[in-house]
Amino acid sequence: MKVLLLLGLVAVALAAQTRFEGDQVFRLKPTTDEHVTLIKDLARSMEVDFWSPDSAELVTIDIDVDIHIDASHASMVYTILNQSDMEHEILIEDLQAQIEAQVDRPEATPRSHSYTKYNTWDQIQSWISSISSANSNLMSRQVIGNTHEGRPMNVLKIGKKTGSTKPAIWMDCGIHSREWISTAFCQWFVREAVSTYGTDSQMTSLLDQMDIYVLPVFNIDGYDYTWKTNRMWRKTRARNIGSTCYGADPNRNFDAGWCTLGASSNPCSDTYCGSKPESEIEVKNVADFIRRNKSIIKAYITIHSYSQLLLFPYSYTYDLAADHAELLRVAKGATNALTSLYGTQYTPGPGAATIYPAAGGSDDWAYDLGVKYSYTFELRDTGRYGFLLPESQIKPTCEETMLAVKYIAAYVQKTL
Ligand code: ARG
Ligand code: ZN
Repeated sequence: MKVLLLLGLVAVALAAQTRFEGDQVFRLKPTTDEHVTLIKDLARSMEVDFWSPDSAELVTIDIDVDIHIDASHASMVYTILNQSDMEHEILIEDLQAQIEAQVDRPEATPRSHSYTKYNTWDQIQSWISSISSANSNLMSRQVIGNTHEGRPMNVLKIGKKTGSTKPAIWMDCGIHSREWISTAFCQWFVREAVSTYGTDSQMTSLLDQMDIYVLPVFNIDGYDYTWKTNRMWRKTRARNIGSTCYGADPNRNFDAGWCTLGASSNPCSDTYCGSKPESEIEVKNVADFIRRNKSIIKAYITIHSYSQLLLFPYSYTYDLAADHAELLRVAKGATNALTSLYGTQYTPGPGAATIYPAAGGSDDWAYDLGVKYSYTFELRDTGRYGFLLPESQIKPTCEETMLAVKYIAAYVQKTL
């Protein structure tokens, strides 16, 4: 009996999910230095989960600041905000309710993979096997290494098999695990590529001439953790020596002005830069692959959410990239194409000036390595749902994003 009880407790503990009942997401609009100080003080005195920007250090005047506050502090924060003269609103009244609303209808039995729903890692993994074997004429896959917890990082190579090495484009999704729409987009892209090859003239010509390498989930351990334990997890799941906190921010862990700006050296921070550049095995696996293939990789595309931005280098400095004018022109063309479908507004620009300076990002690293067309997408929305974008928006978001990615790809193809 005692043993059974103990087993029961263990099972409950293993299945325990972080719950967010009564947690709230606030939007603050600081316009003075006092407002910025108030936000930073809040972040020092209680646990504040920054949704946008990514951490307290990045807060400045005249940007929207979206913060997630746990239930026990929500009413106090609300009072403090009402006593200050800073403009503010509540974006999400009850985070747990919003999390439950994100998936259309939670199924009791696991369903199969769907392009218009969010998929678990297990579903994505079996999708990777099935889509690559069903399209072996156009696709192959390779494991570029394992994650910290031992999950295989599969890269899908899509393109007509010509028997010779082709110029290529790299695209990854899910660097930050809570940005689920990102991961959904890579799956959508792969299906579009294989299903429109032969009918869509642009896709056909692209895949005839180039290969696209797609990493559907970069931070797999984190992604699995967002499903099983904490929906708001952003970082990797590696142990940090000398700390009880887990994980580093993969997009602060690349060797590009590493940990100089907009990143934290505190392992408990959501923007922890790691113990050294590429300390995170997932980052090292990707960087090694791109370095090995750097002579053929002509573009680097990475998908994040949210804010509706199309960013390019630099983020580790305000200096403009040598190719700034061209990168901006292509970004404008891509965002115009995106907007043409449903009117969704995007802002193109260099990272540091467009959102905030933040070093150690994959886009800057790829650019400095010599991959000239280096872009970071921040997909929908602008904060109404934030990371909890409803499943009903997967299809329109992916459709419009396809237009922008195809625009960039077509441009790169023209320059070959
Ligand atoms: N929200 C993304 C992040 O903070 C933006 C990345 C832009 N690029 C960069 N190198 N910081 O990771
Ligand atoms: Zn991100």
